[in-house]
Amino acid sequence: MTSALSKHTLLFTTFSLALTRVSYCSVANANVNSSIPAIANYFGTKGRYEEVNPYLINDILSVNKSLLKPGCTDCTAVHVTAIIRHGTRYPTIKNIKRMQRLHDLVLNDAMNTDKWLTDIKTKWEMWYTEDMDGKLVEKGRDDHRHLAVRLATFFPSLMSEENLRSHRIRFITSSKHRCVDSIVAFQEGLLNLWKVTEVGPSHEINDELMRFFDQCKKFVDDVENNKTALEEVHLFKASAEMKIVQMKMAAQLQVPYNHITPDLVEAAFFLCSYEFAIKSLNSPWCNLFDETDAQVLEYKNDLKQYWKRGYGHDINRKSSCALFHDLFNRLDKVAHEIRFGHVSEAVTIQVGHAETLLPLLALMGFFRDETPLTADNFDLQHGRTFRTSRIVPYAANLVFVLYDCSEGLRLQFLLNETPLKFPNINHQAPLYNTVRETYRELLHGCNFEKECEPSRPNRNCEL
Ligand SMILES: *[C@@H]1O[C@H](CO)[C@@H](O)[C@H](O)[C@H]1NC(C)=O
Ligand SMILES: *[C@@H]1O[C@H](CO)[C@@H](O)[C@H](O)[C@H]1NC(C)=O
Ligand SMILES: *[C@@H]1O[C@H](CO)[C@@H](O)[C@H](O)[C@H]1NC(C)=O
Repeated sequence: MTSALSKHTLLFTTFSLALTRVSYCSVANANVNSSIPAIANYFGTKGRYEEVNPYLINDILSVNKSLLKPGCTDCTAVHVTAIIRHGTRYPTIKNIKRMQRLHDLVLNDAMNTDKWLTDIKTKWEMWYTEDMDGKLVEKGRDDHRHLAVRLATFFPSLMSEENLRSHRIRFITSSKHRCVDSIVAFQEGLLNLWKVTEVGPSHEINDELMRFFDQCKKFVDDVENNKTALEEVHLFKASAEMKIVQMKMAAQLQVPYNHITPDLVEAAFFLCSYEFAIKSLNSPWCNLFDETDAQVLEYKNDLKQYWKRGYGHDINRKSSCALFHDLFNRLDKVAHEIRFGHVSEAVTIQVGHAETLLPLLALMGFFRDETPLTADNFDLQHGRTFRTSRIVPYAANLVFVLYDCSEGLRLQFLLNETPLKFPNINHQAPLYNTVRETYRELLHGCNFEKECEPSRPNRNCEL
């Protein structure tokens, strides 16, 4: 593990020194000549964590502890809950199939003889296979190993070997293999840091908390299985903005325009993002897009998340009520225990999905734009705050830090290791009571069972 960590650091160092923009490089020479695709900031939920925090490119273990000052004197961190997305993963079967179709089309029909396209045809291998289906990749394990070390550096008194040994660090994960593998990697990061070699810590699987979206019947009926719930996404796929991207891609490849569907455009965009996220490659596929194209495709992905996981439908947010209460129940418990001087759970690590983090952020009022994201207001939304590339890259994390201060308990929130103020509270780390007051309606309501009751009851049950 030590060598894996240092090797990785070295890799990133090498690659930041080689920042001279090379437009592509061949697969065989992968890491040496690689650089960052010009469109890397637009990959949405398929983006690399390092694009959100570029200082990590030089030193993947660096933390800026001065960010943590709760802005008050005499404060001691007494509890941390971190809700973390799994690390970098392979594409799912659906996207692997699209990539295969795109690759076949390029091999058979693309007439352009530019070097980058010849490289795709002669050197690039379609190495994605269907069995990879969404599994965590080695980079994804590193995402979590490194995040664990950084969080331990941020909170040395809480994320400590002693607390791990005395079971005061709790690990909870979604049942999906990529999440379980992520939490195991996170634990490896800690064990390696503390040179602990005995059998590692355990984890609990809890889909009610970490995959609440599957269990919320109203969400499944009204959004997941409702063809019109994502109408704005379908409209945007047929928009003038998207047509221009299709036309430019057809021209780049020199294939007839009508062969390039929005799905194939997206497959190419995904290929560029996966080659980069998984292998740190600026692949020749990235040549198909300029920054304007990438902004259109980013918007398409944000629209989907907005309508499926964000503010688009109220049930998206409400489906996270159980996770919200779980968080505040735990903070309340700590608030109670601290009066007796002993906190039983110092750290809680919860691993889930982008689909876990986004509804909770929306429930709590983060990244709410005044104007809803729709198919026809792309031009107005350049400055939107709902930007999944910034919010939920791989290994995205929501960290809640409870401090015991002379004037009472305070709560600080960090998104991806950057402090973020709670909506409508103008303080870096407000009193915990102020936060509770702000969310009082949710704290007294937001009942998962009730919110998730299907809108149309199943009449057969009444017979
Ligand atoms: C990197 O690229 C340069 C120039 O394109 C080439 O001369 C060199 O051999 C490449 N390095 C490796 C390790 O492939
Ligand atoms: C750390 O964060 C502080 C506060 O935002 C900032 O002023 C400082 O420049 C940062 N230091 C580094 C090394 O990034
Ligand atoms: C499906 O979504 C549309 C658009 O949001 C909504 O008007 C409709 O009520 C939904 N249908 C069901 C069955 O929930």
